[in-house]
Amino acid sequence: AGREAPHLRQIMFYFQLVIMAGTVLLAYYFEYTDTFPVHIQGFFCYDKSFSKPYPGPESASKIPPVLIYSLVTAIPTLMILAGELCTFFIKAEGVREKTIVTADCCYFNPLLRRIIRFLGVYAFGLFTTTIFANAGQVVIGNQTPHFLSACRPNYTALGCQTTLQYITERRACTGNPLVVMAARKSFPSKDTALSVYAAAFTAMYVTLVFKTQGTRLTKPTISLTLLCLAALVGVVRVAEYRNHWADVLAGFFTGGAIAVFLVTCVINNFRWLQPGAPSPRPQRPESLLGMPMVTLPCVESPLEKLSGPQVRGGGGCEARLRSQHRR
Ligand SMILES: *[C@@H]1O[C@H](CO)[C@@H](O)[C@H](O)[C@H]1NC(C)=O
Repeated sequence: AGREAPHLRQIMFYFQLVIMAGTVLLAYYFEYTDTFPVHIQGFFCYDKSFSKPYPGPESASKIPPVLIYSLVTAIPTLMILAGELCTFFIKAEGVREKTIVTADCCYFNPLLRRIIRFLGVYAFGLFTTTIFANAGQVVIGNQTPHFLSACRPNYTALGCQTTLQYITERRACTGNPLVVMAARKSFPSKDTALSVYAAAFTAMYVTLVFKTQGTRLTKPTISLTLLCLAALVGVVRVAEYRNHWADVLAGFFTGGAIAVFLVTCVINNFRWLQPGAPSPRPQRPESLLGMPMVTLPCVESPLEKLSGPQVRGGGGCEARLRSQHRR
């Protein structure tokens, strides 16, 4: 059975690559093609909640998608790189003289492995958030606040007399079809979901991994600043008539839930292979904010299986180091 384990690990590794590729592909199809047609909802004549002025294309926004995508990629990547390097060098400092011989075996590889793993899980969550938000928008087909300005229905031809009249005519709109199609995708807000996902993931990373003394106020400052920036994205979306409050709220929950699930369940609060950690798996899931965390039915991550024996190897090496230290 022991001989078969590496084989299985390889299969699991390729399986994960397939999952990752599938996620990216699905996100691409949602984002850049019209493979999945938007659900066409009707509307009330002169509906006030959809009659806001048209704010222009997304790229004309104060926080355009390009800016959001760049920040959502750059900030967590830099934070994870900084955090891992800091943790690595601070942890290594105490045992530096003892690790010269075994440096290659124990201490460099865990660093790289942690960085790649956390960035991989983060990217996976980012694409998942995109898919969730896009799928919600396409399936629900809820209109944006500026829908009627983009749609420009001919009320005379539709015979609108009262505001209680509901129009289900699919060809009611006379505006630019692409703009109308974009105005049908409002719930949940994708930009808010992505921002909150990135902010929540990074905030949890900073809170759980940064262990340096004197970070008592730094950690909450970074975390709250990031969450405020994410909230600001939602506020701007509403202020520019691109989303309703409900869309922003739903985006908040989507992004936040995915981040919390990935951090607590899939990567065990970033405790993998931390140099000096007693075991790669915590005995009891610790709470984030001092409250007992809801014990989610955690699936054993294939990512973890991937390097099972390596973990054990690292642990053995560390154990050896620790015994050397004691001597
Ligand atoms: C609206 O529809 C009416 C009746 O079909 C037509 O006479 C009118 O020209 C249309 N108006 C616009 C702006 O298309």
